[in-house]
Amino acid sequence: MTGAPKGLVLAGGDGTRLRPLSFAMPKQLVPVANRPVLLHALDDLRAAGVTDVGVVVGDRGAQIRAVVGDGAALGLRITYLVQDRPLGLAHCVRVAGDFLGADDFVMYLGDNVVRGGLAPLLADFAAGRPAAQVLLARVADPRACGVADVERSGRIRRVVEKPADPPSDLALIGVYAFSARIHEAVAAIRPSRRGELEITDAIQWLIDHGAPVGGSLFTGFWRDTGRVDDLLACNRELLATTVHSVRGDVDGASSVRGPVRVEPGARVICSQLVGPAVIGADAVIENSYVGPYTAIGPGCVLAGAGVEDSVVMESTSVRGVHGVIHHSILGRSVDITSSPPEPMRHRLVVPDQSRLEIG
Ligand code: TTP
Repeated sequence: MTGAPKGLVLAGGDGTRLRPLSFAMPKQLVPVANRPVLLHALDDLRAAGVTDVGVVVGDRGAQIRAVVGDGAALGLRITYLVQDRPLGLAHCVRVAGDFLGADDFVMYLGDNVVRGGLAPLLADFAAGRPAAQVLLARVADPRACGVADVERSGRIRRVVEKPADPPSDLALIGVYAFSARIHEAVAAIRPSRRGELEITDAIQWLIDHGAPVGGSLFTGFWRDTGRVDDLLACNRELLATTVHSVRGDVDGASSVRGPVRVEPGARVICSQLVGPAVIGADAVIENSYVGPYTAIGPGCVLAGAGVEDSVVMESTSVRGVHGVIHHSILGRSVDITSSPPEPMRHRLVVPDQSRLEIG
C-alpha cells in the first residue's frame, strides 16, 4: 500500500426500515447527537487519515451533497458516485470502479456507527496484506447477518449471508478494507435471491480463488442505524461522551445536572436539564424538562413539555404536553401541541407509515 487507502462511503439505498423518517430525508442524514450519522462516518475516516473519499448516492443525492459539499469543511476531498438503483453493496464497488482505480480502499456503510473500529482494521490490513480484511463482532442472532467462519489464525474460511444454520456468531459489520482484487470479484458475481450483488458473495469469490481474507474482531460499540431503536442506541452512545459547555443562555431559574452542551443562541428559561444532552443553536426551552440522552435540534421550541432519551430534529416544537415524551424520534418542523381536554378523543395529522403510541 502506498500511503493511505481511499474511502468509499455508501449513502444510497432505500432505507425502507426507517420509514417514515426516510421518506423526508435519506437515512444517512438523520441526526445522531445533533450531527447526521453520515458525518460521524466521514469524521472517522478523516481521523484515520483517509481523505480521498467517494460517496455513493442514490436518487436523493442532492440532499447529501447539500450537507457534505466538496468535503473541504471536513478535511476531505469528496467525489460523488451515482448509483441509479440500490442493487447491493457489491454493486456500489462496481459503480466506484473508475474512482477507486487500482488503489486499496476502505468501505464504510454510511448509516453505521462503528466507534473506534477503523484504526485496528486498517492496522491488520496493512500488516497482513490480505485481499480483504473485514471487521467482525459477536452477535446474539447471526441468522440476520453476514457471518464468517474463521480459522484460529484470523484467516476467514467462508462467509455466508443470513445463514439458517450459522457457522459462528461472528457477523461482518459496516467497515471493510479491500485491495484492488475485489474488482475482479464484484465483476464475476451474480445477483442473489433478493436481487442484490452481495458483498459477502464477492468476499467468498476471493476466498474461492485463493485470495487471503482476514477478520479483525471488534468489541467496541457498533450499530447500523437502519431501525428506530438502533438509532436511539447510537444517540445514547454518542451523547454519553458529551463535554459540558454552555454557549447559550441558561437563566437563574433553571437547573442543569450532568454534561449538557447548550449551543450558541439557545435560551433555557425556568427549565430543568439533565445530561448527557445537547440543546441545538437557537432552540428555546421554557418551563420544560430535558432528560438524559436527548438531542434537541437547532431552532426547536419546548414550552411546558418534557423529553428524554430522544432525537428531536430541527425547528420542531412541543408545547403544553403533559408527561414526558421518551424513547422517541421527532422529525423536522413537527408541531406537537395539547388540545383542550376532551376525554377519549385525539386529533392527529399523521403521514403515511408513521408509528404512534397513545397512552
Ligand atoms: P442497507 O442497510 O441494506 O440499506 P437499505 O437502504 O437497503 O436499507 P433497508 O433494508 O432499510 O431498505 O445498506 C447499508 C448502507 O449501504 C446504507 O447506508 C445504504 C447503502 N446502500 C447503497 O448505497 N446502495 C445499495 O445498493 C444498498 C443496498 C445500500
